[in-house]
Amino acid sequence: MTNIVPVNLGARSYEVRIGPGLLADISAQISPLLRRKRVAIVTDANVAEKHLPMLLSHLAKAGIAASSLTLPAGESTKAWPEFTRTVEWLLAEKIERRDIVIALGGGVVGDLVGFACAVLRRGVRFVQLPTTLLAQVDSSVGGKTGINSTHGKNLIGAFHQPSLVLADTSVLNTLPQRDLLAGYGEVVKYGLLGDAAFFDYLEALGPALARYDGPVILKAVTRSVQMKAAIVERDETEEGERALLNLGHTFCHALEKATGYSDRLLHGEGVAIGCALAFEVSQRLGLCAQEAPSRVRAHLKSMGMKTDLSDIAGDLPRADALLALMGQDKKVIDGRLRFILARGIGQAFVADDVPPD
Ligand code: GLY
Repeated sequence: MTNIVPVNLGARSYEVRIGPGLLADISAQISPLLRRKRVAIVTDANVAEKHLPMLLSHLAKAGIAASSLTLPAGESTKAWPEFTRTVEWLLAEKIERRDIVIALGGGVVGDLVGFACAVLRRGVRFVQLPTTLLAQVDSSVGGKTGINSTHGKNLIGAFHQPSLVLADTSVLNTLPQRDLLAGYGEVVKYGLLGDAAFFDYLEALGPALARYDGPVILKAVTRSVQMKAAIVERDETEEGERALLNLGHTFCHALEKATGYSDRLLHGEGVAIGCALAFEVSQRLGLCAQEAPSRVRAHLKSMGMKTDLSDIAGDLPRADALLALMGQDKKVIDGRLRFILARGIGQAFVADDVPPD
């Protein structure tokens, strides 16, 4: 079964197709987009090992010529050196504006390739094939592309919408449990920011998702993408409402920087901790009842996820140093931090006036 979520953005509209077996059906899925039978694929070493030969063989069977570039796996790839390499490779491959580039991988590959396509010949079309839960529910949808700077995460980039997103849920079966649960941090975020009934569902069926239950994964990815698509349609370039998608991220970005973007903390783990902290701050400011942060924590803990700062291995900087790291966030306006806070589960809002203490 394939669920289709349209992202309606006028001339930049596209579909997110979600379901098992989409990679094996690649030629039928992308053929309507091709103006010549040729694609370029960019992936990373881990994903290439698992999925690239299968993808290349399905494309070859359909007579679609494909060349591929495999980048090193990991967050450090998302920076100028591998970005430059990718753009130069696409030029050497003579990829033209009418061609399609395929981003096969998680958020690092999707963000970097999307940004490369945004600047290559002033804009080349690309298709996202997200292979992690995190990329399927968040980074592959909505057109945010970019790389990291030494000053912070995602500080260099552009809005460039994909032409199609194929979220093949069967590839998630090969994800290590830790990566699946990290992606689940972004899934929970959607319930917390705007859909209390979805959070109820996750409280009941999150454990089945952690056991790689296909129908639960399909429902969770579909609902997450529906929510993201609706917000992106209303606010494509984050003038307002789209900032809600950053629930937990102001904390997360500071924690990721403090832990050196290392294995100590995966992005989705930071989002989960950040969501718990956002609800904690909301409660301390008297915005929501004590029950809300307790419920968020209880659910994350029951899933075996990191919930508190103390769950991060090793030392962390002091609070004032973490606040300084938050000051590098893109959401800073006139030097004031913006937080996404909540009046309850499913009721997030943007707050500009949070006192630093
Ligand atoms: N990941 C947040 C957004 O796409 O706006």
